[in-house]
Amino acid sequence: MRRAKISVIGAGNIGGECARSIAMKELGDVVLVDIPFKDKPELHMPRGKALDLACCGPVEKFDSRITGTFEYKDIEGSDVVIVTAGVPRKPGQSRDDLVSINAGIVKSVAQQIKQYAPNAVVIVVSNPLDAMVYVMWKVTGFPANRVMGQAGALDVARYKTFLAMELGVSVEDIQGLLLGGHGDDMVPLPRLTSVNGIPILDLLPAEKVQACVDRAKVGGGEVVKLMGTSAWYAPSAGTIEMVEAIVRDKKRVIPCAAYCDKEFNVAGMNEGKGLFVGVPCVVGSKGVEKIITFKMDETEQKSMNESISHVKDLIAVTRKLFPDLG
Ligand code: APR
Repeated sequence: MRRAKISVIGAGNIGGECARSIAMKELGDVVLVDIPFKDKPELHMPRGKALDLACCGPVEKFDSRITGTFEYKDIEGSDVVIVTAGVPRKPGQSRDDLVSINAGIVKSVAQQIKQYAPNAVVIVVSNPLDAMVYVMWKVTGFPANRVMGQAGALDVARYKTFLAMELGVSVEDIQGLLLGGHGDDMVPLPRLTSVNGIPILDLLPAEKVQACVDRAKVGGGEVVKLMGTSAWYAPSAGTIEMVEAIVRDKKRVIPCAAYCDKEFNVAGMNEGKGLFVGVPCVVGSKGVEKIITFKMDETEQKSMNESISHVKDLIAVTRKLFPDLG
């Protein structure tokens, strides 16, 4: 049987860590794509990183092939394409500030994916996520189930980490869900959070749960303040959770940025049109195979509506900058 081919566009911090995790889990072969350094055109960073990673194989006992390239034609036949191309957030910079730079990059990457990997499932990681996944969908013209954004998997991982720290229990035993836009725009759902089925609100005062939600919301910013650049280990872990669900057709339920219209009142908040927002998805070989909807209470839907309206504003900014997107 043929191994999955997984291309990673952007061989920087997140891209490199994604490549390493794919190999460690033997999810498939990896093609790392990047662009030459402007000031040092003699170097070949993606090829160097691929070589370094490939040499972990004998120690880590993986046979995944890892290659690095500047040529988009090398992504031909990819089953999954992960897009991390773009610039990461600097201290004090909001995700929205990134839109003008990263939308241009993601647009050009999308044109290449459309040409060379027309059957791939695309996972967008570049920020501001909810706008970048929209750009990817518009430019590739791929069916919406094959374009998804990584945000919820990371946000939920942060939320669970902080709850586990607070409770002094294993992260494995926390179940939780968050919806909405990435980061500051996430919609917390303490009502649906539990420790092996025991409601979180029976175990912690509401303020403590809220403190974990708030920390997860700004979890990316907390790392930026400490490191001077954005996180990569946890974003990569969230992305690989999605990749694994796709290549192993696991039908995992993962919150992803997926195209919604009637779901969760998205179209109702956006003049009847759809948007990409974080919702629980069944993720399998076809990408987003199903969006799971459920009845929200009034507070949750209000918070979801606010989140949708922020995503809507972000898309308006993107459209203004790139009117040809439509
Ligand atoms: N094609 C391919 N790669 C590109 C392109 C392009 N057109 N433009 C930029 N890149 C590459 C850069 O050369 C760099 O190596 O994308 C890589 C990004 O890597 P980092 O700068 O290390 O950024 P990283 O921390 O990995 O974050 C990537 O994900 O979470 C988001 O906000 C984050 O948007 C950022 C993205």
